Amino acid sequence: MKVLGIETSCDETAIAVVEDGRKVLSTIVASSLALHKQYGGIVPEIATRHHVEVILAVLDKALKDASSGFHDIDVIAVTQGPGLIGSLMIGITLAKSLAMTIGKPIVTVDHILAHIFACSLDGGLPQFPFLGLVVSGGHTSLFIVYGFQKFKLLGRTRDDALGEAYDKVAKILGLGFPGGPVIENMALQAIRRDKNMFPIAKIKHSFDFSYSGLKTAVLYYVKERDTLSSQEVNEICYSFQESALYSLIPPLKNAISEFGLKRLVVGGGVAVNRRLRELLQELGVELHLPSFRYCMDNAAMVAGLGYWVYNENGDAGFQFGPYSTFEERWSLVH
Ligand code: KG4
Ligand code: ZN
Repeated sequence: MKVLGIETSCDETAIAVVEDGRKVLSTIVASSLALHKQYGGIVPEIATRHHVEVILAVLDKALKDASSGFHDIDVIAVTQGPGLIGSLMIGITLAKSLAMTIGKPIVTVDHILAHIFACSLDGGLPQFPFLGLVVSGGHTSLFIVYGFQKFKLLGRTRDDALGEAYDKVAKILGLGFPGGPVIENMALQAIRRDKNMFPIAKIKHSFDFSYSGLKTAVLYYVKERDTLSSQEVNEICYSFQESALYSLIPPLKNAISEFGLKRLVVGGGVAVNRRLRELLQELGVELHLPSFRYCMDNAAMVAGLGYWVYNENGDAGFQFGPYSTFEERWSLVH
């Protein structure tokens, strides 16, 4: 079964064709990131306009790369949320128009859950139940995952998301946007490696995370100094990254032991980070990570999860609109 996936929740206009939930036949991502750089973050209006401008060309290329025509597609999967409402609307409108025109069913996919199942693209599907951690620019959430749409939220960030903390610290240091890749690379070049420059957030009796204290500590550290040499900036990046990533470990360890779970799945943009991958390996559980290209926002993960959701729920019909937060869609047991 060929599923066409459409993802427009943020700045990426992405369309992919995936066969039977795992075999990626094509995956196209057109990002408007360059247009947002001067503002130091995503500007929703710019993202939405860019989706409108490029989405038909992206669709064309995704079908061509998959050597498919409209009538080879069996199901259309689209990200319903969470994300920017205007941006989501563009993908949803395309999905509905296509489904109506070619007479094929639609399924709606949650972006966060799609990040979790991205590890199964071109690879194996982890056995349920497992621990699922999503670390991206908008989310830092830990779940027990029982099925494709069955999960329990164990914890989430109380303030900034992990990727957002990378982006904000990069802004403080004048390193541009997005912050993740540049901070990771500068951290590798640090000569003095002091792990204790900044605090590691610890929230007692909870699986929650917090990054605003760490971000503020970096801000004050930088404000107290007139100038910073490039080596000092490398050292700040190193220490920030150590504190940010180490703060994930206690909740993960607690969840592994409290629920006796032996499998951990990690997804989202920050999952490309090599230092994070190193720390996760040390947990000694069966670790499932997406390949690098499926960590960042993409539509293959939407088509992939769409296949399983369609098998469970069938056609979603046309009576649905976008949602901006995860909480709006799912009644959460927290
Ligand atoms: O999943 P994603 O593409 O978009 C969201 O759904 O948010 O994640 C983007 C986030 C950004 O905050 C970016 O700084 C972060 O992922 N990121 C990284 C790295 N590459 C991207 N964070 C840490 N290390 C990286 N190498
Ligand atoms: Zn994402």
